Amino acid sequence: MDTLYHIPALREALAGPRRAGQRIALVPTMGNLHDGHLALVAEARARADLVVATIFVNPLQFGEDEDLDAYPRTLAEDQAGLARAGCDLVFAPSSRELYPQGLDVQTRVHVAGVSEGLCGGSRPGHFDGVATVVSLLFNLVQPDLACFGEKDYQQLAVIRQLTRDLHFPIEIVGVPIVRAADGLALSSRNGYLSEEERQLAPGLYRTLCELREALDAGEPRAAALEAAHQRLIARGFVPDYLALRRADDLGEVDANTREAVILAAAQLGPARLIDNLTIRLSHRDG
Ligand code: PAF
Repeated sequence: MDTLYHIPALREALAGPRRAGQRIALVPTMGNLHDGHLALVAEARARADLVVATIFVNPLQFGEDEDLDAYPRTLAEDQAGLARAGCDLVFAPSSRELYPQGLDVQTRVHVAGVSEGLCGGSRPGHFDGVATVVSLLFNLVQPDLACFGEKDYQQLAVIRQLTRDLHFPIEIVGVPIVRAADGLALSSRNGYLSEEERQLAPGLYRTLCELREALDAGEPRAAALEAAHQRLIARGFVPDYLALRRADDLGEVDANTREAVILAAAQLGPARLIDNLTIRLSHRDG
């Protein structure tokens, strides 16, 4: 498994396989890989002839007061994990390689609608940064398919819409969340948690499960959401949002909505954790 750092080398490495008609899968990552990322690679491996993973901590998607500098860079471990998972090629560019004109003048991609609110509301510009780097990687790698984790549910919706709106001929594959035995969704940011916070962290998923049970049991939505919000606080979180939205486009649920998703983001100590759970609505309480 080769690691390439420069765009011309990447293009050259992909030209032959593309000419030979190989099916190419892309797995974009920011590195510091865990089993959730390796599940993306496994899914890509099962669907393609050539698996390309990218490792790039994208400065465009971090706000000024966010953890860009602290974000863990673990290239050697990541390369070993990717090789074991069956990745064929790693592209690990520098910021200068991807954005040679500088971040301030970089052309950006904005995905309307689905980028607003939820994480987009709390992290202004975040999804423009994600949409920009993903568009750029799609353009450079020109994969047949690309795999993204369902943990970043809004991100996946943003990427599906950008793929549709910009007519990228790429299949977007959502890969289910990988959880620790206690239910905590795997995330690179879990590494920021102290031992004590790590014990509390599964409370986020537990709260989502309890909320889904309450909704399934027919509890009125507003009351169930408020109770879940209070439970998150009691469990040591500072909730950013806890919301019930349409599963496909993250719009507000209405009388016709059947497939919905519960989404939450909450601060626990130094870590901002996100999670989600899909739910089928029966509309007993409208
Ligand atoms: O999910 C991530 O790790 C990042 O947002 C992504 C998709 C690799 C873009 O930088």
